[in-house]
Amino acid sequence: MANNLILFTVVALTFGCIALAYEPKPLQDFCVADPNSSVKLNGVACKNPMQVQAEDFFFSGLHIRGNTSNTVGSRVTTVFATQLPGLNTLGISMVRIDYAPWGLNPPHTHPRATEILTVLEGSLEVGFVTSNPDNRFITKVLKKGDVFVFPVGLVHFQRNIGNGNAVAIAALSSQNPGAITIANAVFGANPPIPSDILAKAFQVDRTVVDQLQAKF
Ligand SMILES: *[C@@H]1O[C@H](CO)[C@@H](O)[C@H](O)[C@H]1NC(C)=O
Ligand SMILES: *[C@@H]1O[C@H](CO)[C@@H](O)[C@H](O)[C@H]1NC(C)=O
Repeated sequence: MANNLILFTVVALTFGCIALAYEPKPLQDFCVADPNSSVKLNGVACKNPMQVQAEDFFFSGLHIRGNTSNTVGSRVTTVFATQLPGLNTLGISMVRIDYAPWGLNPPHTHPRATEILTVLEGSLEVGFVTSNPDNRFITKVLKKGDVFVFPVGLVHFQRNIGNGNAVAIAALSSQNPGAITIANAVFGANPPIPSDILAKAFQVDRTVVDQLQAKF
């Protein structure tokens, strides 16, 4: 079994196709992403360590407020491996989230990361829902300095419950956490999911589904 895996990996690497790994514990100090490499693996190929600079481990800009002029009133500024190449293979990343008064970071999930969030400014109502069959809703109001964790894969949200702006910083346990916003994925799929499927799933009339699909 182990031999087969090694053989597969060697073959995969030899032919420059893929290698399998789930952000394993790094076997070297770092692997700064080399976006120019044509080698495809689970992450990005490493830059030559001798050419690595301090800039590769650096990102500047999380002091800048995100533009929340949108329908939900929130903005996520990401610092993933794409923005900070030194994060490649390290299994961690960071975001800044800005909320307009009563702005919402709508229900979404990160398929590859647990998220730990702290409030820097304002108050947030946050929550997540456990998986089937319980679908238990776990919610709390957070104030400045409070910390909350959203377990990997679970649907969660944050809402600013104040008349001023709110700001949060969150760390995520992947260099590329992924995000699936529920409303957009379900009602804004491209091409659309057939409306009779959604009508049955949501137990509503097809016209309700058509209305929702028109919005996303
Ligand atoms: C990628 O290639 C471009 C063009 O050759 C070069 O300017 C750039 O510095 C390279 N990036 C890295 C990270 O090596
Ligand atoms: C914020 O986004 C809105 C909508 O896209 C745009 O009209 C506006 O110019 C942006 N504001 C800034 C300061 O970039």
